[in-house]
Amino acid sequence: MTAQKLIVGNWKMNGLQEQMHELADLVRRMAAAPNPFAKVVVCPPATLQIATREIVSGTTIEFGGQDCHAAAFGAHTGDISAEMFANLGASYMIVGHSERRTHHGETSEIVQEKAAAAIRAGLLPIICVGETEDIRDAGLAVTVVIDQILGSIPQGAKANEFCIAYEPVWAIGTGRTPSIEDVAAMHDAVRNTLSTLLPDGNATVPLLYGGSVNPSNAAALLSVSNVDGALVGGASLKADSFFAIINALQ
Ligand code: PGA
Repeated sequence: MTAQKLIVGNWKMNGLQEQMHELADLVRRMAAAPNPFAKVVVCPPATLQIATREIVSGTTIEFGGQDCHAAAFGAHTGDISAEMFANLGASYMIVGHSERRTHHGETSEIVQEKAAAAIRAGLLPIICVGETEDIRDAGLAVTVVIDQILGSIPQGAKANEFCIAYEPVWAIGTGRTPSIEDVAAMHDAVRNTLSTLLPDGNATVPLLYGGSVNPSNAAALLSVSNVDGALVGGASLKADSFFAIINALQ
């Protein structure tokens, strides 16, 4: 079997119904030129989950949410549970994105609860971690990221039940990326940590890189050791750029 890398589009708070032709266009292109090296997932806002399901139905593309509540149901006005996303046909759930950690005060403890909720609902959580620029400048990037990982992975989670996305905060939406060496060092450190944490086959946990992935840097980033895929923000909104990133995998 061909080893597939996971390419996930995080649309964030972007997308209206009339812009869904971009996803339809992506589906058409992928059908015309299937790439056996890529597993593609899109994470649209909650309002577009059903429209997404209709467009990707019958294709290899899967979809997921961008955040969920830790509880399955209840008095939580404005929140959506992992079970509700699963009920729509979603199969992935981004949790702990730095925009949630920063703007919504989500601690690793909260992220851990959300990741556990996603697993409970049968979804694959994509647990996001990453350092700020100050932390990197202070030489503490690996320490802080490993700390976030240890705090965010649910107790007892198995290697095939979650993914990790390493997203340096300073690289998100800025056009800047760490050097290939820095990405490799971080992903190797994460892999090593998981191998002590999860003796049950840790090597299978997909480790994604995220932060300003674009068609020009995707091939280089995706070929770094222990980079099993990419979490793509801005460049996932247009079929052109997302398709080009997918096809960086050859
Ligand atoms: P970006 O966002 O690709 O626009 O930098 C990535 C992310 O935040 O997931």
